[in-house]
Amino acid sequence: MNVKFANHLNCLHHREKRVRLALDELHVLSGNECIEGLLICDQCNFRYPIIEGVPILVKDFVSYVSSRGATYGSWLLACKTLQMKNFLKDFAYRLNPELVSNDRYEQDGHWFAPYKWTQYDSTFDDPFLKLLKRDIKPTELYDRIIGRMPLRNEGLALDLGCSMGYTTLQLSHKYSYAIGIDLSYSSIKEARKRMSQANIRNSEFCVADSIDLPFDALKFDLILALNLLELVDPNKLLSSIHRLLKPHAEAVFADPYDYNREPRQMLELDGKTFRTLLCDSGFEIFEKSRKAESFIPWILKIANRAYLFYFADVIRASKVSKHR
Ligand SMILES: C[S@@+](CC[C@H](N)C(=O)[O-])C[C@H]1O[C@@H](n2cnc3c(N)ncnc32)[C@H](O)[C@@H]1O
Ligand SMILES: [Zn+2]
Repeated sequence: MNVKFANHLNCLHHREKRVRLALDELHVLSGNECIEGLLICDQCNFRYPIIEGVPILVKDFVSYVSSRGATYGSWLLACKTLQMKNFLKDFAYRLNPELVSNDRYEQDGHWFAPYKWTQYDSTFDDPFLKLLKRDIKPTELYDRIIGRMPLRNEGLALDLGCSMGYTTLQLSHKYSYAIGIDLSYSSIKEARKRMSQANIRNSEFCVADSIDLPFDALKFDLILALNLLELVDPNKLLSSIHRLLKPHAEAVFADPYDYNREPRQMLELDGKTFRTLLCDSGFEIFEKSRKAESFIPWILKIANRAYLFYFADVIRASKVSKHR
């Protein structure tokens, strides 16, 4: 994590007021890169770890670790300082071994490789892409959404559920700064690797929950939420986006409304019901997205001989009013 990123972060335990976090650097590389550290709240003393450069801003670290046991094990092996080892070990005693699981978006989980392929690793000698006669790239959806945005050179963009950061890094070319957040530690680690390989300096990533974010209200000029609706409570997601956007700022959504992929949400949406929910939640849908649903190809490779081919619906909207 770039040490300056701490200036964007608030403690999650004080919703009513902003409480910035102080950075205790345990292992820093030259160039202000904090590899290991703790972000500390001086009001409640809560400590958020930075592990292998990835800040983890979640309210309940025990349950976070509990849902990614293998990842937690890898931190214990990789950590560089005794302070971090002791911090992490403390949580081992608080885990119930029978409840420990492995999130499917972490390394070696079912969904890690498909997103890596879609965002970065696909090649045109792939048999399915060959069959499509090269006309459709797996990144088509992302390239269309970001490619059509005007170059602003100012403002702050946020990418929710950014996975390995393909769209976040594209946003960094259009805005003065782009932040990507995701609950998957492994995805954020990969995103940070891609960011440094591309030598991008106006972007940063952290692990956080889209519906409980460590940022100030009214902070962002643009928020993306691509293919996230099946994974979070849509009402809470829209409240969170509404809170963080500046007045009249833009939100962009994309979704295939496929509820077979994930554990079922209470609220299953389609193009029509999501548009209604958006309008009821303090957003105005742009005319083009209001008129008709869109059908933009989006491909995931889930195994050597198995692909998911979707048509995603893209909706652009702006924040227009106080939330309900
Ligand atoms: C279906 S993938 C979409 C990734 C990316 N936006 C894209 O379109 O390629 C959903 C991502 O959201 C993340 N995720 C799930 N629940 C989340 C939450 N509550 N907050 C933040 N990210 C979440 C997952 O780890 C996963 O990387
Ligand atoms: Zn606090």
